[in-house]
Order: sequence, then structure tokens, then C-alpha cells
Amino acid sequence: MKNILVIYSSQTGQMLDVLTSLSADIKEQAHLDFVKIELEKPFPFPWKDYDTFFDAMPESVLGIPQAITPMDIPAGKQYDLVILGYQPWFLSPSIPFNSFLQSEYAQVLKDKPVVTVIACRNMWLRAQEKVKARLLELDANLVGNIALDDKHPNLASTMSIVRWMIHGQKEASDKYPEAGVATTDIKDTRRFGPTILHALEQGQLATLQLRLLEQGAIPLRPNLIVMEGNGARQFPKWAANTRKYGKAGDPARKKMLKKFKVTLFIAIFILSPVSGGLAKLKTLLTRKKTAADLAYFRQVAFVPGKI
Ligand SMILES: Cc1cc2nc3c(=O)[nH]c(=O)nc-3n(C[C@H](O)[C@H](O)[C@H](O)COP(=O)(O)O)c2cc1C
Repeated sequence: MKNILVIYSSQTGQMLDVLTSLSADIKEQAHLDFVKIELEKPFPFPWKDYDTFFDAMPESVLGIPQAITPMDIPAGKQYDLVILGYQPWFLSPSIPFNSFLQSEYAQVLKDKPVVTVIACRNMWLRAQEKVKARLLELDANLVGNIALDDKHPNLASTMSIVRWMIHGQKEASDKYPEAGVATTDIKDTRRFGPTILHALEQGQLATLQLRLLEQGAIPLRPNLIVMEGNGARQFPKWAANTRKYGKAGDPARKKMLKKFKVTLFIAIFILSPVSGGLAKLKTLLTRKKTAADLAYFRQVAFVPGKI
């Protein structure tokens, strides 16, 4: 039997649901150890207020880790594969997941094949590039990636995720749909488990991503590549400017973060119908580049500076 280590972070439990579904049809044929990443000082969920939520932006974007609690990774056990379940925060790996990647515990990834599983709203590309870069530094070998997102239009998914993050309601309401990854998509994630185990057992991990793509592992909408890029150009500037006023939780940062929030909300709620249309137009006018970008983000190799 193969030994698979599953390391994940999750505030709401969504990632655990995803990974439980993914392993549903292989848990009898492989040994799976689940280990959760926990911060010593966890962020609240629901976040309840915007100040706390946006205060996580600078350290997410700049990749500044926090202390994590000791991880119960069985010492000396030889793992054949590691599955990493994480989520983007502000277009970067979430602080809990990044804190693991920067910690001593990430040494367990050395020389191991890795499959990443992302569950997000709809913008994960730049976060995955940062994860790819870190995996290379750790001498890990990324062989697969599954990205689950919210398939509703950008605006609807923003409204529902704000409701979920701030007030804790994932279920659909009268006005807005279910937030995050749809329950049906979470259930359907079980189709990937046997594909991963088969590739592992047959020594075919080098072509695993092709098999996962055939099963719809990365349902990527081209206009979101452009829209994410717009945000990704701005976020590091906001993050660096905010850090000038203090570290996480410093009240001196509030003013700058309020400006960031207002700018972001204007971009999403007022400008996005136009910028969304322009993004679509751009993908049509630059078909070749769009196709190349799609192909790049669907595979697992890392090209430094690609984006
Ligand atoms: C602070 C914060 C920032 C987020 N930023 C993004 C983002 O940039 N892109 C995205 O697709 N989802 C984003 N999300 C949604 C998360 O990726 C994730 O889907 C959701 O928080 C549920 O995660 P869980 O696995 O921790 O329960 C963000 C969530 C939080 C809490």
C-alpha cells in the first residue's frame, strides 16, 4: 500500500470537505495521514469585521509567515506522495499555508512528488506561482494541480464570499448564490482520487496532470487571467505602503487599509462590469497569448518571471 500525506489549511472546513471527497474512493487502497496546519494565533472565522479581514492583506501579499503549532507528522514514515490543500488570500497563498511552507515542517516535502489542491473564489493563479517557486526551493516535485473555484459570475461570487467570510453564511440566500466551491463540485472531487493513486502505483506521475486535466481539474476562465493580473499589479504596492505604518494588528495601518478596501470595492462593484468586458475583449484580441497563458496555468512546471 502507498503512503500518502495530506497537509492542508482551512478556516471554514471547505478544504477538509474537498480532501475527504478526493480520498473517498482510495482510502481503502492507500494509507492516508491527514495533518492540519494551525496558526498559534488563528484568524477569526467568521471574520465579523472588515478591519480584521483587510489587516491580513499585507502579510498575505508579502508572504510574511506567522508561528504555527507543532505539526503531527509521523516521524520516520516514508511517504510516496504529499497532497497539499490550500487557498489563496489576496492572490497569494493564505497566511496559514505560507507559514507552513516557510516552516521546518515543510522539509517533509523534500524529494517528494506533490499534488496541490486549491479551493477558492476564482483567483488562484499568482498564488500557485508562489507555491511552485517555494516547492522548487524545497526540492519537491509538483506533479499535479486541481483548482476548484466558484463558477458564478465574478460579481455574484464576490457578494456571496463577503457574506460568507464576514457573516459565516456559505449557503445561498434570497439575493446571492452559495459561496465558494459548490457542494456538487466538492462531491465530484472524488473522481480525482483514483486517478492520482493509479498514476502513483503505475509509476506514471510524470503524466498525472494530463489525466487530471482530462477530468476537468482546472476549469479556468480566460478573462479571469486578465482580471487577476490587474489586481496582482496593485496589491504589492498597497501591501508595502501599509507595512510602513506597522506590523499586523497595528492601529496605525487602519487608514491605509481603509483606502485599500474602498479602492478594491470600487474596482469590484463599480468598475468591474466595464473592466470585465474589457478583459474579455483583450482575450479575444490576443487569442494566441491567451491560449499560451491558459496552457501555462493548466500545467505544473514553473517558469520564473512568467507572470
Ligand atoms: C483573507 C481572505 C482573502 C481571500 N482572497 C482570495 C483570493 O485572492 N482569491 C480567491 O479566489 N479567493 C480568496 N479567498 C477565498 C479563499 O481562497 C477560500 O476559498 C475561502 O476562504 C475558504 O477557505 P478555507 O479552505 O480556509 O475554508 C480569500 C479568503 C480570505 C479569508
